[in-house]
Amino acid sequence: MSAKQARSRTRRPPNGQALRFGPALMARLDQLAAITEIPGQLTRRYLSPAHMRSMRKVEAWMKQAGMTTRTDPLMSLFGRWEGERPGVPAIAIGSHLDTVVDAGRYDGGLGVLAAIAAVAELSRTGERLEHAIEVAAFGEEEGSRFPTHILTSSAVAGAVKPALLDAKDAAGITVREALAAAGGDADAYRACARKKREIAAYVELHIEQGPVLEAKGLPLGAVTAINGSVRSTVTVTGFAGHAGTVPMGARRDALTGASEMILAIEELAASQADLVATVGRARVLPGAQNVIPGRVEFTIDMRSPSDSVRQKAHATLLASLREIAHRRGVGIDIDTFQQNPAVALDAGVIEAVAEAIAACGQAPLRLPSGAGHDAGVMAKLCPSGMIFLRCKDGISHNPAESITVEDADLGVRALLEAVRRLDRRLPAGVRPLASTHRA
Ligand code: GLV
Ligand code: MN
Ligand code: MN
Repeated sequence: MSAKQARSRTRRPPNGQALRFGPALMARLDQLAAITEIPGQLTRRYLSPAHMRSMRKVEAWMKQAGMTTRTDPLMSLFGRWEGERPGVPAIAIGSHLDTVVDAGRYDGGLGVLAAIAAVAELSRTGERLEHAIEVAAFGEEEGSRFPTHILTSSAVAGAVKPALLDAKDAAGITVREALAAAGGDADAYRACARKKREIAAYVELHIEQGPVLEAKGLPLGAVTAINGSVRSTVTVTGFAGHAGTVPMGARRDALTGASEMILAIEELAASQADLVATVGRARVLPGAQNVIPGRVEFTIDMRSPSDSVRQKAHATLLASLREIAHRRGVGIDIDTFQQNPAVALDAGVIEAVAEAIAACGQAPLRLPSGAGHDAGVMAKLCPSGMIFLRCKDGISHNPAESITVEDADLGVRALLEAVRRLDRRLPAGVRPLASTHRA
């Protein structure tokens, strides 16, 4: 850490109160970010050795905070801080440990480690709530290794599509095989599903990943909804040939065909206010300087707050890609492997989050999320909400992701306040359940 960073991490907020949580949380986020598959950058994909190491580290922190821990068959890690009576329903808080390739250090990690900091505070003061608290460290949120975005929280919500367990990574390894190698068990995915009476609510603290809070000068926001998304893989098939001998008019170049398609995707998404679309990965085959490309595979990620806008735009887009393929004499195959509807978060949890932000002395802006989150899946299981935390220039999915120690401190405070409010409002008097956690 540079001297400047060290200074900024021990600063006091304007009210002169010492930062109780921020400095230690930032230090742990740095330690977590050092656990990577690729030295020199943060890349921690689902079930990689780095993901497994991060789970062990986080589990040790959970135990240090007084929690019992368990790992489910799809490798979500949970830490449990028991309530006033053993086995009562839990308020779940957390986020994910996997990252995109060449990630920033706060997407996912912030929510998990802030949740542990919140429980550590209860543990330090001996405070027991009526509900238990479960810190969730989900394993697969990003879809950066397998095309299975939000797989592990979907399993917890009892909503996993079993076909996704046979999805392959770039090396041809299936989720099933990777789980077996990591000590998980794809066949036992049903055992990941939690019962509705076990989890009373879910709250996720996450960086905003957009510019709204910073532009308004606010550190925190209460998230109201999560945009829906659709993900497809497009395979364009042309005919590979000699780059020097085949006349321009006689080619069936898969890459020039794919290029026209990619520009059409951009044009369509830019033509509507509530729509974004991204081609984030493309593979050109055979990938040689002197060979006309015979095959191109690329992904489409399209999102909107409105399901009808997204569905209509996606249908229009697929027709336009097919028209381009036909006109250029190339083949096209489109595999739409995931659709996630837009999710309205729970009004009661939004209210508790907004009040918690206000209790921390901040104006509680309500805003929707453009990014996908585990909270959107957990909403199928229980009332769910999110707290957004300002990030510098709205940058995310980029190593330049940045937050301040003061905001991190406020994030933990707001999370704890939101949990206390939900604890008072939600019924906890359900028949105690047998605990499956181990000390
Ligand atoms: C996750 O970060 C997503 O929204 O793709
Ligand atoms: Mn995330
Ligand atoms: Mn992300």
